[in-house]
Amino acid sequence: MAQTQQPAQVCKYLLQNRGYIENGLLFVDNHGKIAKIVRDLPRDQLHNALEGVAEDKVVILNDNQFIIPGFIDTHIHAPQYSYCGNGHDIPLLEWLDTLTFPQESKFKDSNYARQVYTKSVARSLRNGTTSACWFATIHLDATKELVKVILEQGQRAYVGKVNMNQQSPDILIETTESSVGDTRAFIEFVNAINNRMSVVETLPLVTPVITPRFAISCDSELLTELGKLAAEYDIPIQSHLCETLSEIDFTMSLFPESANYTSIYADHQLLNQRSIMAHCVHMKDEEWALMKKANAGISHCANSNFNIRSGMANVRKMIDLDLKVGLGTDVSGGYSPSVLEALRCSRICSIAKNPEESLSIPELFYLATMGGARVMELSDKIGNFEVGKEFDAILVNTTAPRSPLDIFAHDTVQTKFEKYLFVGDDRNNEKIYVQGLEVRLPEY
Ligand code: GUN
Ligand code: FE
Repeated sequence: MAQTQQPAQVCKYLLQNRGYIENGLLFVDNHGKIAKIVRDLPRDQLHNALEGVAEDKVVILNDNQFIIPGFIDTHIHAPQYSYCGNGHDIPLLEWLDTLTFPQESKFKDSNYARQVYTKSVARSLRNGTTSACWFATIHLDATKELVKVILEQGQRAYVGKVNMNQQSPDILIETTESSVGDTRAFIEFVNAINNRMSVVETLPLVTPVITPRFAISCDSELLTELGKLAAEYDIPIQSHLCETLSEIDFTMSLFPESANYTSIYADHQLLNQRSIMAHCVHMKDEEWALMKKANAGISHCANSNFNIRSGMANVRKMIDLDLKVGLGTDVSGGYSPSVLEALRCSRICSIAKNPEESLSIPELFYLATMGGARVMELSDKIGNFEVGKEFDAILVNTTAPRSPLDIFAHDTVQTKFEKYLFVGDDRNNEKIYVQGLEVRLPEY
């Protein structure tokens, strides 16, 4: 099977930015930002280079350890972690009706929400997700709970109160008025926290995101109001787009005035450079053009697309069109909260789609990190190690206790890194850092 070596946009980026640094130093300032990077430091000069730095502030890695930028999960449902791994033999619309909506209705109880969210966020963080785009549920109080849990645990996040005012069961539906009112209240709640923390030189950890579940569950009036809120507060937008064929058919029957599924969002001012559209499996050429024109981002959720049997998204095409694309776990359409698992599914998806144009390893790693940062419109702040960016990172230990991978004498930095990508798991994530601080997680 011929493997094309044609470097796509993302590959060129990686090559220009040198794959990895051996024998180097990375300094983080008191605001959690990368202050300095020293490359190719001779070992005997290490002591001098660390002059003036307190000993307890230095982390020295051995040959089986390395640091990488934290993973970015551009699409995950916090309430759905409670039944992650269940219901994978049911197609999307039936899966929503029979499993997801009844489960999400339980989040009207904020105590229950806190219990589940504590585990969802911890599991995501342990797997190395330093930034996540979370869908909560329609419930205002429970969504506030999710924000509190995220701040307690220290993840960077976009958090959305979900909007649903039509085609939803009585147990999980809102009026237009309460949907808009609660969304505004949620945004104000997060903004007030951020103002209280008087974020001076660091980014706020949590950002509110406008979250119409998908066009099916919001009528035109609600979508219009949500478009206005996104503009008023200048905040991001997230939703689902072109996930399955029957979903698309049903959607178009509800919005006959719009030319296609993507234009429904565009027609309601919900498609712009801060939009994150999950899936994009079955897109028409006009829809790619709309995405490009809006500079909207795509969350590629290969695990979920296989599980729900939605189809295989054409990531090579997205890259060739220079669309912003990152990876999403889509728990629990996807069975795993690990971006590593999303990366592996994305690789298989790209091979199954067209082996001649499958995604390379640098491209996959890019999608899991910088790709996600671009989708979140945070590529000047996170996604890789550059001076001035936030230090969001994973300290990987390839020989950690109970590590699922083994290291041999012939292994190099490159082969250890690849083993981690394809065999490793959270047991190898020895430390997780967000904004320069080590995340402290409860024991399993
Ligand atoms: N479309 C609308 N809601 C959902 C959801 O919760 N999961 C997935 N995968 N697709 C959706
Ligand atoms: Fe989803």
